[in-house]
Amino acid sequence: MAKRETSKTPLRVLSVASEMYPFVKTGGLADVVGALPAALRQHGVEVTTIIPGYRAVLPKTKAASKHQGDLITLAQGDAGGSGLVLAANVPAAFDRAGGPYIDENGFDHPDNLSRFSTFAQRAAEVAAGLYRDLSAFDIVHAHDWQAAAVVGHLHHILKGRPLPTVFTIHNLAFQGRFGGECFQDVGLPASYFDRDWFEFYGDVSLLKSAVLRATKVTAVSETYAAEICGPAQGFGLNELLAGRGADLVGLVNGLDTAVWDPETDPALPLTYTSRTAAKGKAAAKAALQSQFSLETSAEKPLFGLVSRLSDQKGIDLIAAQIDGLVFRGAQVVILGSGDPGLAASLAAKARQHPTQVAFTEGYSEALSHLIHAAADFLLVPSRFEPCGLTQLSAQRYGAVPIVSPLGGLVDTVIDANPAALRAEVGTGIILRSVDPEGLGTALNRALALYNHDPEAIAQVIENGMSADVGWHASAAGYAALYRSLL
Ligand code: ADP
Ligand code: GLC
Repeated sequence: MAKRETSKTPLRVLSVASEMYPFVKTGGLADVVGALPAALRQHGVEVTTIIPGYRAVLPKTKAASKHQGDLITLAQGDAGGSGLVLAANVPAAFDRAGGPYIDENGFDHPDNLSRFSTFAQRAAEVAAGLYRDLSAFDIVHAHDWQAAAVVGHLHHILKGRPLPTVFTIHNLAFQGRFGGECFQDVGLPASYFDRDWFEFYGDVSLLKSAVLRATKVTAVSETYAAEICGPAQGFGLNELLAGRGADLVGLVNGLDTAVWDPETDPALPLTYTSRTAAKGKAAAKAALQSQFSLETSAEKPLFGLVSRLSDQKGIDLIAAQIDGLVFRGAQVVILGSGDPGLAASLAAKARQHPTQVAFTEGYSEALSHLIHAAADFLLVPSRFEPCGLTQLSAQRYGAVPIVSPLGGLVDTVIDANPAALRAEVGTGIILRSVDPEGLGTALNRALALYNHDPEAIAQVIENGMSADVGWHASAAGYAALYRSLL
């Protein structure tokens, strides 16, 4: 280790993931995988990323015949901050309609086990130096269940020549669990269908194999790392996770502050800094109100929501508060996609209050950025939240986050209670409990601040905008973790 640092030889890491911004994204996983290479470069780590060759990432490069083959280069190592980005070209698994995990009708692709196992096998071969001119990597860093089988495949390929592995849990709710009769789809000998590897209560669990066998396991915040060791948030894996002891580490996510920068953001009508936030945010609010034909008012408090629509995110709790918010003079602007039932309930609220509530069902980076700039508050009342990124982007854009008292949310938001206001450190509002009463009380606090304490809310906004929400500290943490494995 000392030798590497003194000789300045970069440490070479292969990052294996099913999403990477800006190539393919369904949630925060993509943001993290996309931001880490540039952040880690500052710490002497050279990251190559491999993602599946989905149809959506292929067309841009397909025409060039040099790109045909098992691996397609999506970005060269020297092109910008992303490092070398490869796509595993397995047309039978990935060149098809639909999203990364679900088909056009919203159902899981029926062959997800074999799709992502094939991807993991290809990634393990690359890591081991079996592909092209890429020599073996120093460390493999796999993310979430879709990449978890890389640990088993590496073990199989390298037979007794271990390569250190780091496995990051972004969301324990998704484990890649399939019937035991499908084990052959993993592409490993039957001996791996064993309690020391993939077998979990008779099923195949991709995530479990990596939780148990990766050299180190990380979770995306310290609080979440602790929560998943208990039964309430452990999704059946808590004992295994607790059993990893010091090999389970919490490293909180950062925000890509180049992508999220109100000073340069092309999606905003008027860019701003913390000094000019009042003007910049007023322009964004006016633009958003006009875009959705909402009542034009600079005074009305605007609550924003940008989220996957799922039970995890507490969307039902928000829907139940909308009438009350409108009654008390607020506006609500929502961008989200996912659960059709939740979408229908939000659409009904928008129809009921056409001049005060707007709901856009879908996915849009540009609208998301505009909402962050326009909103006075951003809602994140999650039932569980491994880290969460929107409370970070909200702070950076001067939208006060209203968050649940759990997971990465409490590691990244300081509740603006009276003591925090006196000490001038508050950056948001933390619910006391994730239920109607907890959210209702938090919304009352938000409205009281907005309507009656302009100095306090200005301070909270400024604290949030100057908070260190970037990657620096955690990138240093990952770099130190990698080095400890050599
Ligand atoms: P999760 O990964 O659980 O969905 P995170 O807060 O970690 O939650 O990350 C979500 C990411 O996806 C953020 O970058 C957020 O801005 C973005 N996002 C979520 N829904 C949408 C949407 N409908 N349109 C645009 N961006 C979205
Ligand atoms: C998951 C989690 C979210 C986290 C993201 C990136 O999607 O739900 O909390 O921020 O991964 O790590």
